[in-house]
Amino acid sequence: MTRHLLDIVDLTADELALVLELAQRPSLPQVLDGQGVALIFEKPSNRTRHSMEMAVVQLGGHPVYTRGEEVGLDVRETVEDVTRVMAGYHGMLAARVFQHDKVVRMAACSGVPVVNMLSDHSHPLQALADLLTMQQLHGPLHGHTVAFVGDWNNVSRSLAEACIMLGVDVSLGCPVGYDASEAELERLDGLGPGSIRQSPRAIDAVQGAIAVHTDTWTSMGQEAEKAERVKVFEGFQVDAALMAAAAPGAGFYHCLPAYRGYEVAADVIDGAASHVIAQAHNRLHAARGALAFLMGVR
Ligand code: CP
Ligand code: NVA
Repeated sequence: MTRHLLDIVDLTADELALVLELAQRPSLPQVLDGQGVALIFEKPSNRTRHSMEMAVVQLGGHPVYTRGEEVGLDVRETVEDVTRVMAGYHGMLAARVFQHDKVVRMAACSGVPVVNMLSDHSHPLQALADLLTMQQLHGPLHGHTVAFVGDWNNVSRSLAEACIMLGVDVSLGCPVGYDASEAELERLDGLGPGSIRQSPRAIDAVQGAIAVHTDTWTSMGQEAEKAERVKVFEGFQVDAALMAAAAPGAGFYHCLPAYRGYEVAADVIDGAASHVIAQAHNRLHAARGALAFLMGVR
């Protein structure tokens, strides 16, 4: 059966742990030898493009970067035509899309694995790197609390899913209207041994957390909402006072790109507790582990 990675929950908890283990193996078989991987981007990228291109190279394959406008998913031709054609050239397809449904439709008609490189719903490759980085810095995470302060969106959703599946307790601090719904909290609660809680006060959310994560208040595609969002998210900036309210020695994490003075204070992201560069570098290792897993490495 062809496996895809559209969401963290496409993996079982054991598979998620295996992907994180594969990410740290000193060498992996060249499972993409002689094969291409199409990397389609409807939005800009630094980390995802470079880490995915290099992960493909490290597994023996050849990445083909493609701008969204070039293929025009549902504009120049249908998602299904693009997918069926490209699946005949490549060993794997990956896409960064505005609407999650596009990667779902790709996976539904692709005979090769499809990877979500960020949609409006989720960012599984980021969550893998987040988990890897926290594990490396804090040791086994089971039973610890990880906080996310800010917008309930793609990055926070994938992070929460991965944590809960691995027995990590998740604490969300999100403004009302930009938070997880009751139905979503219930769904998350059922994913695994980790727990989930949510507060409309950032200071409450970080209590006991060994890691404080945040993300931009205005995601790609939401630029027109920026002024409104800056008002709504006032009080949700991760600053030194908020970090001091977390567990002693807590780390700061951000998927990047970051906007200093908005979701994070400069002295936090540029300070000693910040792990954002290690987190970004782990995108490569996480991507390599994920691609190897999808190509059948166990
Ligand atoms: N974190 C992340 O996905 O970064 P890019 O948008 O630069 O790929
Ligand atoms: N939530 C952000 C993540 C960027 C990596 C966005 O979707 O733009």
